[in-house]
Amino acid sequence: MTNRKFDTILRPSKDPESLALAAKYLQQGEIVAVPTETVYGLAANALSEESVSKIYEAKGRPSDNPLIVHISSLEMWGELVSEITPDAYLLAEKFWPGPLTIILPKSPKVPMKTTGGLDTVAVRMPSHKDTLKLIQLSNLPIAAPSANLSGLPSPTSAEHCMRDLKGKIPLILDGGECNVGIESTVITLCSDVPTLLRPGKITAEQLSSVLGKEVKISSAILNPLKGGEKASSPGMKYKHYSPKAEVILVRGSLEGFKRKFENSPEGTFALVFTGEEKEFSENTIPYGFEHDPDSQAKNIFSLLREMDDLGAKLVLVRCPHENEALGVYNRLLRAAAFKVEEV
Ligand code: TXA
Ligand code: MG
Repeated sequence: MTNRKFDTILRPSKDPESLALAAKYLQQGEIVAVPTETVYGLAANALSEESVSKIYEAKGRPSDNPLIVHISSLEMWGELVSEITPDAYLLAEKFWPGPLTIILPKSPKVPMKTTGGLDTVAVRMPSHKDTLKLIQLSNLPIAAPSANLSGLPSPTSAEHCMRDLKGKIPLILDGGECNVGIESTVITLCSDVPTLLRPGKITAEQLSSVLGKEVKISSAILNPLKGGEKASSPGMKYKHYSPKAEVILVRGSLEGFKRKFENSPEGTFALVFTGEEKEFSENTIPYGFEHDPDSQAKNIFSLLREMDDLGAKLVLVRCPHENEALGVYNRLLRAAAFKVEEV
């Protein structure tokens, strides 16, 4: 079974047996693409070095980029970390199951391969019911990075996973389009002050209000790493989320944006705030309402993929407001390799 690559897509809502099949694959050391509320994940038994190696291989992921481990109960968490601290409990109680990843010192049970050589482990309890059920059925914590090829936009549908991983994995579980659309918020509780390493739907303000203390925002969220600087979250040092087209974030008025678009070469596409597309005659797609970061997050990765399908050479994006939409802004900054133009 382990060498047969079926490329099968099964839908647990129509075919409940598919969860048992996926659980069997995981127990046998195989990798399976699974839906979560944020993005699709590429899942393997987190406690097996051999299984986890298959994730790195299929994604083409650098081996020092640690994986997030997904759990279905607090008991499972207790096995993975040296101690669940009071702060960690507070956050889990408020936000799990849901799009928050919490980093704590790891227990000896977790292989270094899973944590990219670090002595800490990132854990979250996803809220997508298919994947929660799968973790319960397999009775395994599952390591799962986003199920895209390394560097490409994260997948928010089973179809995206198929495109990236065809021929490399035996099964994709189709749980529909992801609700959130960008990856989980990542917070580390291993530093002096709790620190946000990756912004997502759950904001630093929400975390800080539950903890009743300051949450620092890692400088790597908004800035490229300087040469020689060590990444607190290794994922942040790699090129990310990029379609083949060049992406530029354009900050300023709609009028300025229109002028820039009109003076751009053929093959230029525009991603604008919903409603603004009416003001353009062609190649313009809305990506979400200006002051509604959740609506932007839901579409952004699939639209970046669509830009490639449409053959875009250059994509101009109306810049989201970083104070309200830090997660979307962070992903777009990376897709644009930090190119931001003021108009
Ligand atoms: O929403 C999500 O989190 C999705 C779904 C599938 O759950 N997963 C995901 O995984 O986005 P991935 O591997 O694409 O991103 C994991 C991020 C990387 O930036 C990685 O460097 C960071 O989390 N990370 C994982 N473990 C870490 C650790 N021990 N210390 C610091 N950063 C860590
Ligand atoms: Mg990823």
